[in-house]
Amino acid sequence: MTQHSEHYILATGGKDVERLRLLHQVYGPGTEALFRRIGLRDGLRVAEIGCGSGNIACWVAEQVRPTGTVVAIDNSTAQIEQASRQAHARGLRNIEFQVADAYSPRLAEGSFDVAYCRLVLMHLTDPGKALSAMGRLVRPGGTVVCEEMDLGCWLCDPPAEAMRRFFELNDALGERRHEHFRLGASLHRLFRQAGLARPEVGTNFTLALRGEQKRLLGMTFQEFAPELVREGLASQSDVERIAGELMMLADDETTLFGFPLVVQVWATAG
Ligand SMILES: C[S@@+](CC[C@H](N)C(=O)[O-])C[C@H]1O[C@@H](n2cnc3c(N)ncnc32)[C@H](O)[C@@H]1O
Repeated sequence: MTQHSEHYILATGGKDVERLRLLHQVYGPGTEALFRRIGLRDGLRVAEIGCGSGNIACWVAEQVRPTGTVVAIDNSTAQIEQASRQAHARGLRNIEFQVADAYSPRLAEGSFDVAYCRLVLMHLTDPGKALSAMGRLVRPGGTVVCEEMDLGCWLCDPPAEAMRRFFELNDALGERRHEHFRLGASLHRLFRQAGLARPEVGTNFTLALRGEQKRLLGMTFQEFAPELVREGLASQSDVERIAGELMMLADDETTLFGFPLVVQVWATAG
């Protein structure tokens, strides 16, 4: 049965700003390359679903100004407050943030050139329903663009037990919650099911030996660790050990991280 009374598992608002900043360091260059490939230009009207603290929405707003606009939604008031703060700090006037749900965005249908989301559908129990809603937002000939993770694809060299456990537990929690942490690989099929024929695909995959962005995985683990304990998937001492080791690996420049693959899919709406 489809559950829509779902509760987003990671932190929101001020508690998640730093993690999303690091996430954007990891995946931002790939996201920007994707937008350039699709063709961002002055005058476009872009919708972002699940905008978090606004890192992508603000960048897109800078690319489409002076006449283009961005409308970004998130179902968390705390995220929208952070996103609005960022837009204000960057002096952006062509961007609007609204608290709204991916399943029913409450935006005018057919009124956007591009509808975009990153790492949002994977957290939903019915990603197809949210993707269909995105498809309805764009005008005929507009583009629907999604970037979603596939937790099955990552690297750590030399291999580390803490990293293996991080992904194993993340995966188990996703399954327990009926979320889709391996959505990346099958995202192209979801597009076809949503009536978005002939999808295109790309990759957003990053390697790092050093740099603060390596702390992303440990920080993410710390955010979902309490849920692992509540669900009985790991003990408190387990999660503390794994969190500590992930941070040590992050600070060790002889350990290579290949962050989980993010699959990019986009298609023209009919
Ligand atoms: C992993 S964060 C990604 C944020 C942003 N897209 C980025 O890549 O920086 C997922 C975001 O989706 C939002 N979210 C989760 N479920 C949602 C829903 N049903 N409708 C709208 N936003 C949702 C969360 O509040 C969170 O801000």
